Amino acid sequence: MGINACVIGGGSMIGSHLVDQLVADSEVDTVTIIDAVFAPDTQANLAKAVESPKVTVHEGDIRNYDQLRSLMQGTDEVYHLAGVMSLDGLGKERWMWEVNADGCFNVLEAARDLGVRRVVASSSAAVYGEIPGDSLFEESGYPRPRTVYGATKVATEALCIAYDGSMGLETNVLRYGIVYGPRLHRRAKSSLLVSDIIDAFLRDEQPIIQGDGSEEMEWVYVGDVARANIAAMRSECSGEVFNVGTGRSNSTRELVEIAKRITGSTQEPKYVKPETPHKFTQNIMSATKAEKRLGFVAETPLEVGIGHQIEFQRARLEPTR
Ligand SMILES: NC(=O)c1ccc[n+]([C@@H]2O[C@H](COP(=O)([O-])OP(=O)(O)OC[C@H]3O[C@@H](n4cnc5c(N)ncnc54)[C@H](O)[C@@H]3O)[C@@H](O)[C@H]2O)c1
Repeated sequence: MGINACVIGGGSMIGSHLVDQLVADSEVDTVTIIDAVFAPDTQANLAKAVESPKVTVHEGDIRNYDQLRSLMQGTDEVYHLAGVMSLDGLGKERWMWEVNADGCFNVLEAARDLGVRRVVASSSAAVYGEIPGDSLFEESGYPRPRTVYGATKVATEALCIAYDGSMGLETNVLRYGIVYGPRLHRRAKSSLLVSDIIDAFLRDEQPIIQGDGSEEMEWVYVGDVARANIAAMRSECSGEVFNVGTGRSNSTRELVEIAKRITGSTQEPKYVKPETPHKFTQNIMSATKAEKRLGFVAETPLEVGIGHQIEFQRARLEPTR
């Protein structure tokens, strides 16, 4: 008997790449996708996967426990990627809490009740907040989120650890850096930054960049993040939290140079004074624990990943030319 996998939030950027990898996995018999919104971009993300007889897609809201439990029946490994991101300050904090924290509780409770073997849930580097200076975040450090989004992910982590420890359900949690690659959406500031730079070069326009380009961020390729989910599901250890990143940062200027080189653009970026004084700088996460315990290394070089993203954005722009 093969594996019956369930991907909650399977229409997401990361979730849809994970679905593609599970479909290609000969050990997996079925892939059940549960997602709340099948918007045009979500449908496009899953266009290839739904051709597989392994895949079933259900519309469902993780805030609705009864509906969720019923859709999860018959699955034995659950990847939880559904969530809402980085909406602090927009009056959406309660909604974010209800989806990310209450929703995660529902996923874990349904999984425990149904006898699911393991849940792998998505967290974020946002749990760490920002520490001035050159810090390398280790998983053992105490989370100090600076946003409600980060706090919802701390709650996700705490719930997962509690269920693994005392409820008879295995869990692992993954803290991602900034994820980029094909199917990147426009729901986070960091996503907007990289998509807009690429779109500007592809349209032969000048990219306008807030700040002086010195901001450093940790970028991790979406295909690597999907692979980390499978590694966390299949590994012998559970009840753990793992950073999923490269352990390195790149500045916005480096990103711009790479995108410019690959697109062959002759445009020069314009660096402008930021609209808000906040400097979007992220500390870097240590990649050592994931490598030692999961055998996972984020191996896609930034040049290669940005190349894949450029191809994706080029194809999206072409019909309108
Ligand atoms: N993209 C990143 O850089 C990044 C970084 C760190 C962590 N994460 C986390 O990884 C996960 C996936 O991220 P992504 O960028 O692929 O996200 P995404 O925004 O593409 O997808 C989130 C998915 O969750 C679904 N969803 C939202 N509310 C729901 C609800 N109430 N019930 C069911 N489904 C619901 C959405 O329809 C969407 O398909 C999220 O939990 C996110 O917080 C992402």
